[in-house]
Amino acid sequence: MKDLPGVDVLFVNHAAQMGGAELSLLDHARHLGNSCSVLLFTDGPFLKELRQSGVNVSILGGAARVVALARTTGMLRGLRTAGTIATTAVAIARRMRSAKITYANSQKAAVLTALAALVARRPMVWHLHDIMTAPDFSAANRRVVIALTNRAAQLVIANSEATAAAYRAVGGRCPVTVIPNGIDPAPFEHVSRQDARASVAAEFGLSAAPVYGVFGRICGWKGQAVAITALAKSAEAHLLVVGGPLFGEEAQDATLRDLAARLGIADRVHFCGFRQDIARLMSAMDVVLHCSTEPEPFGRVIVEGMMAGVPVIATHGGGASEIIAGSGAGLLIAPGDPQALAEAIGSVMRDPALRADMAARGRAHARRDYALASVQRRVDVALAPWTSAHPIMAGHAAG
Ligand code: UDP
Ligand code: GLC
Repeated sequence: MKDLPGVDVLFVNHAAQMGGAELSLLDHARHLGNSCSVLLFTDGPFLKELRQSGVNVSILGGAARVVALARTTGMLRGLRTAGTIATTAVAIARRMRSAKITYANSQKAAVLTALAALVARRPMVWHLHDIMTAPDFSAANRRVVIALTNRAAQLVIANSEATAAAYRAVGGRCPVTVIPNGIDPAPFEHVSRQDARASVAAEFGLSAAPVYGVFGRICGWKGQAVAITALAKSAEAHLLVVGGPLFGEEAQDATLRDLAARLGIADRVHFCGFRQDIARLMSAMDVVLHCSTEPEPFGRVIVEGMMAGVPVIATHGGGASEIIAGSGAGLLIAPGDPQALAEAIGSVMRDPALRADMAARGRAHARRDYALASVQRRVDVALAPWTSAHPIMAGHAAG
């Protein structure tokens, strides 16, 4: 394998689908440009997106077998493929030697990067995007990732206070800094809500009836079923289900379509698949719905709804509560409760003044606390102990 040129930051991410953690990495890698490179374990749309952005990205040959170990099977069972893991860790260790800091962006990446860091005696940070107490993480998996990163990682970047608390609760002992995701306001500023509504209405054959959107990958705990069930309680509203089954959740996609058909609302539920025009779609909504049935680690879609100037109704817990509580930009409801969701939608739709107030507060709140440029500065500062010679940091310190 050819060595990469020396860089400040080497990002390691196992997945090559476009999930929220990958979109967060994409923004950081674009920001760092030539002073970073990205290592993926497999090919996919994320690789293409990084390349199109001019980011130096490569695939770690052989590591795809590590990806194939489902999160729930337990990393201990995974360790039986010790040969693959050892080879992958050694390959990462070689790359780490030409980077000032290695930045693991997923749990599988953290396990392998931690092993590599111990071999190479090089520093690593772990950007933790998951609430590790969630039921879909096996205990064995947790023990392995925590034991290794406790020894190898210098810093954990958690995407919310809830993610940080869960990390500590499962035995994480590294220093933690909480940095939310940043969202670029620009795409939302270039869209008029009126134009977006007209073009989305034409695309999906919508009437003047209300339209709601649930955005995110198709997956059981993201709770699209709750939104579909709540929609059935209204006579005429439409729902856009925006997102694809990114991580092998095709069966859930079929289940949701069946649910809409069984409830007799298939003509009012529009499955859009994965879309690139999120700012336009969100701007066309009357309300953005976030329906996760487990605490959301962060929830980029909530901030994006606010950026679009649309009221957001989200479920209590995790990052969702941290983003919305006290903002006046939306409502928080109990998870997994279609009746509560339908009532919350009703209360927002009955009151145009409330909707306008939520929209204005959401725009201001999102731009003040989650604008991409200021969040990137916080990541730069977190990485400064290792990358302080970076010109961005020099500029920042001078400014
Ligand atoms: N997203 C997208 N296209 C889609 C659905 C979602 O680009 O069709 C984006 C969405 O705009 C957001 C991200 O995917 O930036 C999802 O991030 P979030 O933190 O909400 O959830 P995750 O999927 O990471 O758990
Ligand atoms: C993960 C989480 C999501 C978070 C994203 C970016 O995918 O599930 O809540 O917003 O990472 O940190």
